[in-house]
Amino acid sequence: MKVVASIVACFAVLGYIQAVTLEVNKGNSTCIKAELSALFSISYNTSSATKTVQVSLPNTTRVDEGSSSCGTNSSSPWLVAVFGPGHALGLSFATNGSLYSVANMTLQYNLSDTSLFPEANSSGVVTVVSSSVDIWAMVNTTYRCFTTTSFPVGGATVTFSDMRLEAYMPENDLSPTESVCVADKSTTAAPPTTTRTTPTAAPSPTPPGTPEPGNYSVKTSNGTICLLAQMGLQLNVSYFSQPQNKTVQDVVNLNPNVTSSSGSCEASSATLVLSQGGTTTLNFTFTLNSTSNKYHLSGITLLAKWDDMTAPFSASNTSLNYMRSTLGRSYMCNAEQTLDVVPAFSLNTFRLQVQPFGVTTNNFATAEECQLDQDQMLIPIIVGAALAGLVLIVLIAYLIGRKRSHAGYQTI
Ligand SMILES: *[C@@H]1O[C@H](CO)[C@@H](O)[C@H](O)[C@H]1NC(C)=O
Ligand SMILES: *[C@@H]1O[C@H](CO)[C@@H](O)[C@H](O)[C@H]1NC(C)=O
Ligand SMILES: *[C@@H]1O[C@H](CO)[C@@H](O)[C@H](O)[C@H]1NC(C)=O
Ligand SMILES: *[C@@H]1O[C@H](CO)[C@@H](O)[C@H](O)[C@H]1NC(C)=O
Ligand SMILES: *[C@@H]1O[C@H](CO)[C@@H](O)[C@H](O)[C@H]1NC(C)=O
Ligand SMILES: *[C@@H]1O[C@H](CO)[C@@H](O)[C@H](O)[C@H]1NC(C)=O
Ligand SMILES: *[C@@H]1O[C@H](CO)[C@@H](O)[C@H](O)[C@H]1NC(C)=O
Ligand SMILES: *[C@@H]1O[C@H](CO)[C@@H](O)[C@H](O)[C@H]1NC(C)=O
Ligand SMILES: *[C@@H]1O[C@H](CO)[C@@H](O)[C@H](O)[C@H]1NC(C)=O
Ligand SMILES: *[C@@H]1O[C@H](CO)[C@@H](O)[C@H](O)[C@H]1NC(C)=O
Ligand SMILES: *[C@@H]1O[C@H](CO)[C@@H](O)[C@H](O)[C@H]1NC(C)=O
Ligand SMILES: *[C@@H]1O[C@H](CO)[C@@H](O)[C@H](O)[C@H]1NC(C)=O
Repeated sequence: MKVVASIVACFAVLGYIQAVTLEVNKGNSTCIKAELSALFSISYNTSSATKTVQVSLPNTTRVDEGSSSCGTNSSSPWLVAVFGPGHALGLSFATNGSLYSVANMTLQYNLSDTSLFPEANSSGVVTVVSSSVDIWAMVNTTYRCFTTTSFPVGGATVTFSDMRLEAYMPENDLSPTESVCVADKSTTAAPPTTTRTTPTAAPSPTPPGTPEPGNYSVKTSNGTICLLAQMGLQLNVSYFSQPQNKTVQDVVNLNPNVTSSSGSCEASSATLVLSQGGTTTLNFTFTLNSTSNKYHLSGITLLAKWDDMTAPFSASNTSLNYMRSTLGRSYMCNAEQTLDVVPAFSLNTFRLQVQPFGVTTNNFATAEECQLDQDQMLIPIIVGAALAGLVLIVLIAYLIGRKRSHAGYQTI
């Protein structure tokens, strides 16, 4: 079952351009952040013909810290993403106080990279620039354009999709308020396509497979870790979708790569807050009974602002009783667990281990395993016992058989 799911997911990824997340930082604060997929169409000459190659921005793309900058009085903010041997994409920004925009886009490609440009009749790095890139948004909002959009840059074409981007950022993460591009506004009125976009830029055209486990923690004000969690999370939400004009049930994985954790730890309650790109906020509240020294997950709150929702989805249940364990121990459940929160929202957990209280060494304490895991461990024991029983029966049957045939000889 699992193998089949991951093969399907694998094919889905191969046929899809990958999303990357790029950030420019100054000190501890982020000034530019972009989540996008990009495809480049580049023409080059061989000795006999002109060829065109299609290159997508790989997931190994990284921000060039040396060239990128948050801008100064005399220079503008600049995001430079580098990939492969000497290829780069640059976005330079400008603002007039109320709007910001991409002032120019630079594409740099290295014809000496023979894997991309076989038989190129020249070598060396080509740089092309376009200063008419129609990307702009209100200050303190995120530019959002999920629709595929192409921009000519010199002789090449740069095609973006699933794009979320912000410059001159007031916070360290993309602003929850979005400036939606014209193309997205017109597509929301059109009938929905089969591929839907997940709350973040990560494209997920097929039902998601098993979510990747993320490592999350909460620190006290003096910097010591007071809550540890490791888990893969999958949200199962029913909501009214405006483009589809009906209630849809959406299963969405939380991507740990773009999820930040925070929270608070008090004597008898601890809160873990997971936030994915400002669009999904998930709160877990654990409660400790100091008389019995037992704790449990008592509350889950979800706030989701996904693109096709008419209004933000919010669900909360503060009288839950999941993940019961003992102070000084962690709680573990490797098996998939479904936590019902409200009728319209349940949470599936995978490969989970949490310790909301009594974290001493930044590591999990001894785990108390959930019943599902214990049952699964029981299966090999039962099978083993059954096999041993079978062997015993065969052995006894054989011994009896031998004794009888012995007896037979003696009578003759
Ligand atoms: C960055 O954060 C660290 C620790 O959180 C702090 O010690 C340092 O002063 C911060 N630097 C700046 C420039 O804010
Ligand atoms: C390819 O060669 C043609 C003719 O020689 C020339 O006009 C064109 O600019 C060249 N293209 C590139 C991308 O170098
Ligand atoms: C990039 O994507 C490939 C194929 O989808 C995957 O095998 C690889 O692990 C990814 N690498 C990173 C750094 O994300
Ligand atoms: C930038 O401008 C502000 C005010 O205009 C000034 O106080 C500051 O010193 C300038 N910074 C640099 C690096 O020039
Ligand atoms: C910024 O530019 C936009 C569009 O050109 C214009 O509508 C707006 O008034 C400008 N704002 C300021 C403060 O100049
Ligand atoms: C790109 O735009 C920035 C800001 O407007 C400017 O400083 C830079 O010189 C431009 N680069 C090119 C190659 O035009
Ligand atoms: C953007 O946010 C910052 C910090 O929150 C604020 O100081 C600034 O006035 C805001 N600018 C606009 C145009 O709303
Ligand atoms: C700081 O951490 C220590 C050790 O974890 C703890 O005993 C102490 O209470 C903490 N102090 C504050 C102010 O949180
Ligand atoms: C949405 O669906 C309802 C009934 O299913 C229908 O009456 C209504 O006209 C539809 N609205 C739009 C905008 O399609
Ligand atoms: C998260 O990042 C890792 C390494 O950078 C990568 O292998 C993995 O595919 C990413 N996961 C998702 C869901 O994007
Ligand atoms: C704590 O546990 C004790 C003993 O199991 C129980 O009597 C008490 O009601 C619990 N307290 C709370 C606040 O649940
Ligand atoms: C999550 O918890 C934080 C801190 O306790 C709180 O500020 C925030 O409002 C909560 N969010 C939701 C959606 O309940």
